Amino acid sequence: MPLPRHAYNAHVHLRALTTLHYRNLSPATLDLPRGITSIWGENGAGKTNLLEAAYLALTGLTNAPRVEQLVTRGEREGYVRADLHSGGSTSILEVGLARGRRHVKVDGVRARSSDLPRGSAVWIRPEDSDLVYGSPSARRAYLDALLSRLSVRYAHQLSRFERTLTQRNAALKSGETWAMDVWDDALVTLGSELMTMRRRVLVRLAELTQAAHTQLGGHKPLTLALTESTTPETYLADLAARRAEELARGQTVIGPHRDDLALTLDLFPAADFASRGEARTVALALRKAELDLLRERYGENPVLLIDDFTAELDPNRRQFLLDLAHSVPQALVTGTEHAPGARLTLRAESGTFMPDAAQQPLPAEATP
Ligand SMILES: Nc1ncnc2c1ncn2[C@@H]1O[C@H](COP(=O)(O)OP(=O)(O)O)[C@@H](O)[C@H]1O
Ligand SMILES: [Mg+2]
Repeated sequence: MPLPRHAYNAHVHLRALTTLHYRNLSPATLDLPRGITSIWGENGAGKTNLLEAAYLALTGLTNAPRVEQLVTRGEREGYVRADLHSGGSTSILEVGLARGRRHVKVDGVRARSSDLPRGSAVWIRPEDSDLVYGSPSARRAYLDALLSRLSVRYAHQLSRFERTLTQRNAALKSGETWAMDVWDDALVTLGSELMTMRRRVLVRLAELTQAAHTQLGGHKPLTLALTESTTPETYLADLAARRAEELARGQTVIGPHRDDLALTLDLFPAADFASRGEARTVALALRKAELDLLRERYGENPVLLIDDFTAELDPNRRQFLLDLAHSVPQALVTGTEHAPGARLTLRAESGTFMPDAAQQPLPAEATP
């Protein structure tokens, strides 16, 4: 059941977040205003977990390798819920975590994860530097996740491609090649569409990332390019040419599952040569581009989740994060100190979040 259209093109406001048996968070409902909510406290308090829960409730997505990890140790089931206001009405998004699976409901009706409004949140984390330093698979995951959020078609074709790949690899391993032509045709059709869609989005992604990189004070010219193991035009012939190698290795050696989003700084691969600070700047630029693309696609601002702005020691980048938080209708910002200019400040302690008594009074909230 697709979400009503207004959820995409109207003003997105996460009014309340409920968690039950989610990691170390105490069961609670947090009412959240527009503007910046600052969540501050010591390491291990549960700040990252709270943003992770918000991201899951809003988008249905999680970085956790296993859903079980999200459920409080010793509990069997967990639950998160977002009360999302947009276009004059409220949607209730619920994700139940049980038996290793996500169970999604939209306004009380069972739904698929893909029915959640995938453009409704962007999560910026210190770990994003892994995008630059990590293996090609990290950048591929970024690209696939981004495209899947921009296009339902991409998400659908990607999962079909992955299923086909698994079956084809099994056939290669067992040496049962009698059905290979069928697998090749399916793989080439799906894989070529993924490659074409990646190429198309890359143009805008590169423009937006470069603009953000400059804004962040990145001096070296940054380029984004796809490193492709094959092309839509030659995929079928390339597969035929590599058949012997594939049989020997028992896997499919070319296709979009092997490609990379190559990042270069001053013509050198950023993965190998970027300094820690340069990598951080590039990673932030990629996240800013993600925010911009989702905004362009859905015509509305996602809820911005900024994890640990205090981990950012560079004054330029720290200010960029805070400016970004101020530029969107709603942002949750965590850190070991509170974020300036917040409308609500919450003190994080052992999985609880209490309004901070020391909070400075701020101008009244603008009309909702
Ligand atoms: N499934 C779980 N059950 C209980 N506690 C968990 C679970 N997963 C993580 N934690 C705990 O959550 C705490 C980390 O919280 P985190 O949100 O990363 O803190 P921070 O405030 O530093 O961002 C750790 O103490 C960790 O042990
Ligand atoms: Mg943290």
